[in-house]
Amino acid sequence: MSRILITSALPYINGVKHLGNLAGSMLPADVHARFQRARGHEVLYICATDEHGTPAELAASAAGQDVFTYCQEQHEAQHTIGRAFGLSWDWFGRSSSPQNARLTQHFADVLEDRGLIEERTDKLVYSIDDARFLPDRYIEGTCPICAFEKARGDQCDNCNSLLDPIDLKNPYSVISGSRNLEVRETRHLYLLQSRLQDEIRTWVDSKAEFPALARSIANKHLDEGLIDRGITRDLAWGVPVTRGGQPRIGFESKVFYVWFDAPIEYIAATEEWADANGGDWRSWWRTDEGAEGVRYLEFMGKDNVAFHTVSFPATVLGSGEPWKTVDVLKAFNWLNWYGGKFSTSEGRGVFMDAALEILPPDCWRWYLTANSPEHSDSAFTWDQLVAAVNRDLADVLGNFVNRILKFCEARFAGVVPEGGTPGPLEEKLFAEVSARIADITDQFEAIEIRKSAQALRSLWVLGNEYLQEAAPWTAIKTDPERAAVIVRTAINLVGLYARVSSPVIPFAAEAMALAVGESFPPVWPTADAGGELSRIPAGRPVTAPPVLFRKIEDADIVAWGERFGAGD
Ligand code: 2FM
Ligand code: ZN
Repeated sequence: MSRILITSALPYINGVKHLGNLAGSMLPADVHARFQRARGHEVLYICATDEHGTPAELAASAAGQDVFTYCQEQHEAQHTIGRAFGLSWDWFGRSSSPQNARLTQHFADVLEDRGLIEERTDKLVYSIDDARFLPDRYIEGTCPICAFEKARGDQCDNCNSLLDPIDLKNPYSVISGSRNLEVRETRHLYLLQSRLQDEIRTWVDSKAEFPALARSIANKHLDEGLIDRGITRDLAWGVPVTRGGQPRIGFESKVFYVWFDAPIEYIAATEEWADANGGDWRSWWRTDEGAEGVRYLEFMGKDNVAFHTVSFPATVLGSGEPWKTVDVLKAFNWLNWYGGKFSTSEGRGVFMDAALEILPPDCWRWYLTANSPEHSDSAFTWDQLVAAVNRDLADVLGNFVNRILKFCEARFAGVVPEGGTPGPLEEKLFAEVSARIADITDQFEAIEIRKSAQALRSLWVLGNEYLQEAAPWTAIKTDPERAAVIVRTAINLVGLYARVSSPVIPFAAEAMALAVGESFPPVWPTADAGGELSRIPAGRPVTAPPVLFRKIEDADIVAWGERFGAGD
């Protein structure tokens, strides 16, 4: 048994996430966590809301709430919706926790002790009417490149240029609208990443298991040369800047930058989990206290990779302390939405709460796994969703389960029949199923998301093919013992499907397991199909579950297209 630590990128607090966020981090992380638990490993799956920074402050003020109340409510909302999607976090924490504040301040102290943090003077925009500096998104104005009039301080949404707020023309404060601004000098802390360049490159090179996407993004940044990074901001909401446990002189109105404290929350959330459950967080994170044996996997969208292959390693390696670092960094491309991107700020696409109003979680989980934006971007389409639900789930899987259990109820009083011995058709089935179980296991193990779904689908298909060929409805008339073998074998297939499908469609898997009297969560099968398909004994009562997957109707698609504004 191994110890496996899994984290998925921490969703921003500023509202319920869209399906692209789910598909590119939390869902594949959950699928892997469920798979490894079924394999018998000790798994800890940690996630949290990322609560600091200007996006949180701005979203709170747009909602007319103080930022503390806003974050509390939004954290609860994201927690509830994640659970409804079946996300099996062992802990869903908050980057605003006291544990994270302590640990963030600890890292800053240790980095400074090692000469890797220094104070520098920056020139920043100061709002005289608001009596404060205006970081990043608190300032808007005319883009110096394309003349767009509502460019944000850090980026122009029209031409996509990255900007420096002091270069904006006609700048104004987002807080008050005031144009009474001036450039003033202020002090900030810088993490001297340039000094860690060689150490980080050696570290990336040592990560033999990094998939290609993660490695290429890391190398691009290293080849360009690492630059020192400001790790404090002029904000009220965030981790206070301290030195040796005391407020840092001159930094009383500043906090650490959100991207400095957010990844530290992976560790701090584990501490939150331990504090709530009596676990030992250090044995997951300190290689001098047991974590050297832990396998650590991170799941995230590609825009997060630089922060996890350069910035966060700079924090952790720079500390010189024995922290566990990631072994496998699985990065995802974008799920696109009809000619563009899903967008939180513009409300474009389907969001997690609305998604569950129209379809059960397993339909989304299956669709987003089978069409994962894994090795390239993928496009959400209603047609693909219909195919995934109606064909794969309803016609192939649901139909098989329903058909055989209804037949057992009608002809064998809902009891697994006894008698007969497996014949050539069963021997052929056992050989095919053995190969499929081996393939499914390999694909889940390799975190090949789409291939895992393909392998599962091809196992489901075998069930219908077997029933078609074995034809128990004919055998029952001429050879009841033969019919008993077929029904018993097919019911065992239902039990097997419940087990191997459980990482992706846990709700249907549980219904299937209950229908045939198996326990849940399941234990992963061996590739010995002969043995696995004779687990469920004769004499056990079984019941056909209510319809596992309702089909999507044409009228649904029309209504959803209107509601979500896609395809036009
Ligand atoms: O991109 C995002 O949504 C960030 N909130 C991810 C943070 S991941 C981790 F570093 F905290
Ligand atoms: Zn522009």
